[in-house]
Amino acid sequence: MPPRGVVRRRLVDCTVVKIRHLEEADHGPVVAVVDGWWGGRRMATKLPRLFFRYFAGTSFAVEEDGELVAFLVGLVGSPADEAYVHFVGVRPDHRSQGLGRRLYETFFDEVGRRGCRTVRAITSPVNTGSIRFHTSMGFEVLRGEDAEGGTSVHPNYDGDGEARVVFVREVP
Ligand SMILES: CC(C)(COP(=O)(O)OP(=O)(O)OC[C@H]1O[C@@H](n2cnc3c(N)ncnc32)[C@H](O)[C@@H]1OP(=O)(O)O)[C@@H](O)C(=O)NCCC(=O)NCCS
Repeated sequence: MPPRGVVRRRLVDCTVVKIRHLEEADHGPVVAVVDGWWGGRRMATKLPRLFFRYFAGTSFAVEEDGELVAFLVGLVGSPADEAYVHFVGVRPDHRSQGLGRRLYETFFDEVGRRGCRTVRAITSPVNTGSIRFHTSMGFEVLRGEDAEGGTSVHPNYDGDGEARVVFVREVP
């Protein structure tokens, strides 16, 4: 049996991929790459160090041979039965291999154990890849007062004039 946390071992090149909790020490390496992983959008400022320090218990990293190749920042606040995914990102050359799904499944397990019944996540209407990913992950779009590109959105969601797509699903 592989050690707990080892999710995949490629026998050909002996690459070991494992999932672990995110740590405060991951903050620097992650903010150094997120803008690139998000196609040049300025995302790093939305990911302050506090998430890595205070929400590590509900946040996860995927490591390949010791290098972080994907991460999910999630939290449980109040209401205590609702979890929230703030960021999920996979290094571009590691996409479409199930890592995003695996991170979400790990998060569902964790927040389910904590008594959560629903999970929410939010994305920008321009991020059509994220919309399709969340739909594939079983999320529904929470109806807003407007629509962009055929998707229902919540205008001025954060008070900055920008609309957001709001996703919700039950914890499996
Ligand atoms: C969105 C993202 C996290 C998906 O990660 P991933 O590891 O490539 O996704 P997976 O391989 O686990 O795919 C899971 C499912 O989503 C679907 N999916 C993922 N990305 C998709 C895309 N761009 N378009 C259509 N479907 C997509 C897959 O087809 C798969 O569906 P299936 O299991 O029913 O076959 C990744 O593309 C990414 O990091 N994007 C940039 C950051 C971002 O936008 N994050 C989300 C907002 S916080």
